[in-house]
Formats: sequence, structure tokens, C-alpha cells
Amino acid sequence: MFARNEVLGVLDRTVDLSRRWRGVIEEYREFLPVTEATPVVTLLEGGTPLIEARSVNKRIGRDVRVYLKYEGMNPTGSFKDRGMTVAISKALESGVKAVMCASTGNTSASAAAYSARCGLRCIVLLEKSAGAIALGKLSQALVHGATVIAVEGGFDKALEIVRSITSEYPIALVNSLNPHRIQGQKTGAFEICDVLGRAPDFHAMPVGNAGNITAYWAGYKEYHEVGRVPNRPVMLGFQAEGAAPIVRGHPVEHPQTLATAIKIGNPASWKGAVAARDESGGLIDTVTDDEILDAYKLLACEEGVFCEPASAASVAGILKLGARGYFPPGATIACVLTGHGLKDPDRAIASVSEPITVPADRDAVLEVIWGGSR
Ligand code: F0G
Repeated sequence: MFARNEVLGVLDRTVDLSRRWRGVIEEYREFLPVTEATPVVTLLEGGTPLIEARSVNKRIGRDVRVYLKYEGMNPTGSFKDRGMTVAISKALESGVKAVMCASTGNTSASAAAYSARCGLRCIVLLEKSAGAIALGKLSQALVHGATVIAVEGGFDKALEIVRSITSEYPIALVNSLNPHRIQGQKTGAFEICDVLGRAPDFHAMPVGNAGNITAYWAGYKEYHEVGRVPNRPVMLGFQAEGAAPIVRGHPVEHPQTLATAIKIGNPASWKGAVAARDESGGLIDTVTDDEILDAYKLLACEEGVFCEPASAASVAGILKLGARGYFPPGATIACVLTGHGLKDPDRAIASVSEPITVPADRDAVLEVIWGGSR
């Protein structure tokens, strides 16, 4: 028999260090705007699972294969980390001492974490009104030590203020208007291609400020141009019905949706989203809050995947299109689940029934299990 530490020693020597995930900058350095001089600030983001969604496949039928890109598995629980590792590394390289963003919650969580890691000051503007920022996201910005400023106005107004201040002071803007954010986020498309060995036929995602759809399309195009994949997907974006400026064709002054992450009335990357849609022959459509919640529960109860409501807009969207017979037989569809369900515990609790309370008694527990039907 080996002593425990001897066994561990043997195991340690067999670990192949070259196969450890190194974060998106090191994994995709040749595609990113970094040099040897760039100080890489990473939490080993990226490398997230691509999970086949068998229940969703069945609902759509026609032998389609739906894959969930589960971005909730990133270090701060959303896709923002892919862009933030690049934006914060470049901010540090440029010599600024502070970064700033407006946010519906996830950008601020990510900016706060990456800033904490490298000693940058992080200032975030959030909408003040009750329920605007999901609890998990707010707690992240605060716990990482950001200066959190609650603004009496929505995301669009907050972003306007951030743009104005960062254009005047040596503070780096880390919203997705920052091209380094888009560069980092395009690595999500690379990963999907690396796993499938080609681009999916369709790529579905929620659209808020529209940076991510811009980034994914850039990533797919780039991988195709350099010959890593033989094809490009059709891009499908989904906005919440009460916050759908791109679908309506004009800004929405008071956007409304329970998917707070995408409660945005005037997306900064509007043009990028339209280009992704038109160049790929895709579409940007609406989903209702009820459709979002149905998809959210379906993912949780039948796929075992817990995402936040805004993320479920991608699956709500393909279910809606699938019901119309939109997808050709055998199509592969990648759906980005942009953030983790734990980000918004209030929404989770509100959408399920209460736990059943019983006395600390074996029979009372059995009564609940069998419901007197034994
Ligand atoms: N899904 C989640 C979970 C998000 O947090 C966001 C954006 C989106 C989708 C939409 O992505 O803006 O690139 O179109 N959240 C931003 C934030 C606005 O401040 O966290 P987008």
C-alpha cells in the first residue's frame, strides 16, 4: 500500500500541465490585441462547457441539435469576463489608474473583480430603482471593492454619463464600446467552433447593449477567414418585448422586462448587431417575458442548467422560431446562456413554489414523499 501523499505525488507527476486551460488571452493570443508588453490580468476565464440540450432538441423536432454555451461558468458568472480580461489588461498597460462602466449588473461584477485583481480603481454606475440590478451582481461589485454609484435613471442615461466622464479624465471606459471588450468576447465563437469542428448552422443569443452579438459575429467571421472553419452561422438575436429598440427600429425610452440584464433602450452597438444580422442572413426578434420565463424553467427543470432570465431569451427565441418551422432538418444551433442563474436568486425563488415545512418527524416526511398514497 502507498501512503496517501505518495499516491498524490504519483498523480501530480502525471498531470499534463500543457492541457490546463490558461484563460482566453493565452489560449487565443494570436487573435487578440496583446503583445509581450501587455500585463495579462486573468481569472482563467473561458473554456466554458458546450452542453447538448436534449429537451430543447425534442421540442423543436426535425432532428435539430441545440448546444448551450454555458457562460455562467465563467469566474464571475457571466460572459463579460472574456472581454474584461482583455479590457483590464489593456487598461493596465496604458497606465490608467481607474476604470469605469455603466451596467445592468454583470459588467460591473466582472470589472470589479478584474480591477481588484490588479489594483485598479473601479467605478460603476447602476440604476437605482428597486429590482433593477439582480442581487448577486450587486453583491459582487460591492464585495470586490468597487465604488458603486446608484443613478436615478436607467442604463442608457448612466452610460451617457460614463462616456462623458471617461472622454475627459484618464479613466478607461470598460463597457463594450471599448473595442478590447469585443475582441475578448469573440473568443466564445472560437470555442464553439473548436468543439464542433465547424461553426454551427445557427447562433442564438440575447441582445441588450448589442456588444456580444457584435463580438460573436466578429469571431465567427475571423475563424472562417483564417480557414479554421468552413462555414459561418446565421445569427439570431433576441430582445425582450418591452426592451426591443433594434426590432422596433427606434430607441425605447422606458424599457421594461424582468430580464433586467437586457433592459436597455438605446444599445451602444446597434450598428454591429444590425450588421451581424444582415451579413449572416439572420434576424433579430422579440420574446415576451412569459416566453423567457418558460425557457428559464425548461432549462432548469429538464436540462439541469441554471441560467439567469436574460440568458434564457436565446432559448425562448429558438423555441419560438422552431414552432414556426424555421429550422431546416438536422440543423445545429448554438445558444449562448450568458449568465448564471445564481446571479438573480429573487427571480428563481419567485418562479417556484415554497419548500414544504413539516415537523422533525419521519412520518411527516414520508407523508410528503408518498402523499398518503402508500
Ligand atoms: N445576457 C446577460 C446576462 C447580460 O448581462 C447582458 C448584458 C446581455 C445578455 C446582453 O449582452 O449587452 O452585449 O447585448 N449586460 C450588460 C451589463 C449590459 O451591464 O452587464 P449585450
